[in-house]
Amino acid sequence: MSPFPHRPTVITIASSKGGVGKSTACIMLAGLFTARGLGVHIIDLDENQTVQRWFNRHQTSRAALTVTAVAPADFTAHLKDIVGHPNPPDLVLIDVAGVYEKALLQAMGRSHLVIIPAQPSEPDIHEATKIVRDLADLNDNFGGSVPYRLLLNLFEPLDPHYQRHSVSEIARLGLQRFDTVMHKRAPYREAFMTGQTPHHATEPSPSIDKARAELDALATEITDLFATTSVKEAA
Ligand SMILES: Nc1ncnc2c1ncn2[C@@H]1O[C@H](COP(=O)(O)OP(=O)(O)OP(=O)(O)O)[C@@H](O)[C@H]1O
Ligand SMILES: [Mg+2]
Repeated sequence: MSPFPHRPTVITIASSKGGVGKSTACIMLAGLFTARGLGVHIIDLDENQTVQRWFNRHQTSRAALTVTAVAPADFTAHLKDIVGHPNPPDLVLIDVAGVYEKALLQAMGRSHLVIIPAQPSEPDIHEATKIVRDLADLNDNFGGSVPYRLLLNLFEPLDPHYQRHSVSEIARLGLQRFDTVMHKRAPYREAFMTGQTPHHATEPSPSIDKARAELDALATEITDLFATTSVKEAA
């Protein structure tokens, strides 16, 4: 049974900064939720088609997972088709390009949740703050209440000073974040080469197990968020 309140539930992985881990987070979420038997559709809005290329290598759960690379100008029409489909997926994930464009705002405004990946660094926190402000403007202007969470990525296990400082800065700014962070892990990087995610790995290893546990904790936070927040209907 789907843990999401809407079918489809739409989640945008948002940032206009490159390299923060949007595509990584997107395919990891797709991997873990398809492994739980959910139908997932990814809209790849990045002209580099990182997710589309990953999908071309992805061998398992093809029936449960579909990916469409969509030009920004065609985004709203495509999403309307998916939402209005008689048999929609459980979850739509939107991976945006690392640039500031109209489609980013359109995607956020049509989402039930916005996930903002950020490395623990000043430039990434600055960028996340801008996205949070844009989302607040969208919510104010269109009467929405789309929630967001920062997702700290590329976390270092030794917790260096800059990382601790970044975490306290996020708290000081009052930004909402997932407690779960994505550590810097080889299985996340390898996924782009193999087409697999930790949840579909054919050869388990301690590093795969750790990645899976981290992603499962993230999934729990996401589903708990939907269980406790009232979220608006996707447009
Ligand atoms: N937690 C992680 N552990 C290891 N490598 C990571 C992690 N997160 C991201 N990477 C690597 O960092 C690089 C950038 O990640 P990714 O492509 O997901 O970022 P992006 O925000 O989608 O970038 P762009 O804006 O260019 O689309 C990739 O090589 C990816 O494999
Ligand atoms: Mg990307």
